[in-house]
Amino acid sequence: MKIPFNVPPHSSNEEKYISQAIANKKLSGEGMFNKKCEEWFKNHLHCQMAVITPSCTSALEMAMVLAEIGPDDEVILPSFTFTSTANVVALYGAKPVFVDVDPHTMNIDVDAMEKAITSKTKVVIPVHYAGVGCEMDKIMALSDKHGFIVVADAAQAIFASYKNKPLGSWGHMAAYSFHETKNIVCGEGGALIINDPRFVARAEIVRDKGTNRQQFLNGQVDKYTWQDKGSSYLQSELATAFLFAQLEEGPQITTRRLMHWNQYNAGFADLEHAGKLKRMEVPADCQTNGHIYYVLLNSAEERAALWSFLKEAGIQSTTHYVPLHSAPAGIRFGRVAGGMTITDDLANRLLRMPMYADLTADEIDYVLEKVTEFFARKS
Ligand SMILES: Cc1ncc(COP(=O)(O)O)c(C=O)c1O
Repeated sequence: MKIPFNVPPHSSNEEKYISQAIANKKLSGEGMFNKKCEEWFKNHLHCQMAVITPSCTSALEMAMVLAEIGPDDEVILPSFTFTSTANVVALYGAKPVFVDVDPHTMNIDVDAMEKAITSKTKVVIPVHYAGVGCEMDKIMALSDKHGFIVVADAAQAIFASYKNKPLGSWGHMAAYSFHETKNIVCGEGGALIINDPRFVARAEIVRDKGTNRQQFLNGQVDKYTWQDKGSSYLQSELATAFLFAQLEEGPQITTRRLMHWNQYNAGFADLEHAGKLKRMEVPADCQTNGHIYYVLLNSAEERAALWSFLKEAGIQSTTHYVPLHSAPAGIRFGRVAGGMTITDDLANRLLRMPMYADLTADEIDYVLEKVTEFFARKS
């Protein structure tokens, strides 16, 4: 049996909507499907504004422009994240300040984050790893106290909630990803969710190459001009036509992933009780979306051995981030605040199992069987 790590989901209406977009003869970021996707987020999250972007990376970048970070500013984020979370900070000359993660979730350790706050802290970027929410109530309370802006990296978090509130609606801004490895996809894509009204007026300009083109299109001015810093943050209509079809079927896609998540979780229980591995945790306050199922092995060597054993058996499991504080650009552009013992340890022991909507129960049983066989052979 061959089981890939990821297969992008397919929904019923993608081809139909792309054909409609072509027929509409409006293929830039101002077409009907762009509007439909923006409306979908507004209805789903009750946000102030949603911008469908070419990627989560570009959504995070746009958030940094809106937050007006610069060389005197610090941005706190976990070291255990994708490069984009820190790269957008370095791009504007601000300093990424890396903190450790909570061993239960691999999300930012809020106590470590609080200790890292200085008079230079302008933004905090919590990352909802594996579609499991950070402790957003505590983070927002610290933001109220210290005045920093919270931009949530919700790349993996579509259809996941914290305290029953969708993760995109926590924070002043939040960025989703629709890259083909995510739960809901359009090839490459993202969305910037703006929850704080103070960013809306500039967002209209920043997303459209720094111009007031939106005002021109609304008939408020008779020509548009360069007003502010900005870039090309709009997504193509062809991609948003695909995305809208996926969003419509998002609840069903999520249900399927959660079913797989639960099957893995039940299947790995005996190995956990036998002390062979640790299953990922989802705290009671978090409603996950089944984005990732990972286990923690007892050592880095054991992870490497299981990884290649599964590969031999046709199963593509995979590790995750190389902590950014130890990466060349992390050392060059960032600094560490506090210890990194949890990140350094767990990043070396984490292994992700195949996870996608079309995975079958038999395929998951095969993965579970092979992992069990790996430990049986060792003992
Ligand atoms: C936490 C996190 N942030 C940002 C990104 C970047 O997303 P995109 O590929 O849509 O730019 C990823 C991608 O995997 C991610 O895992």
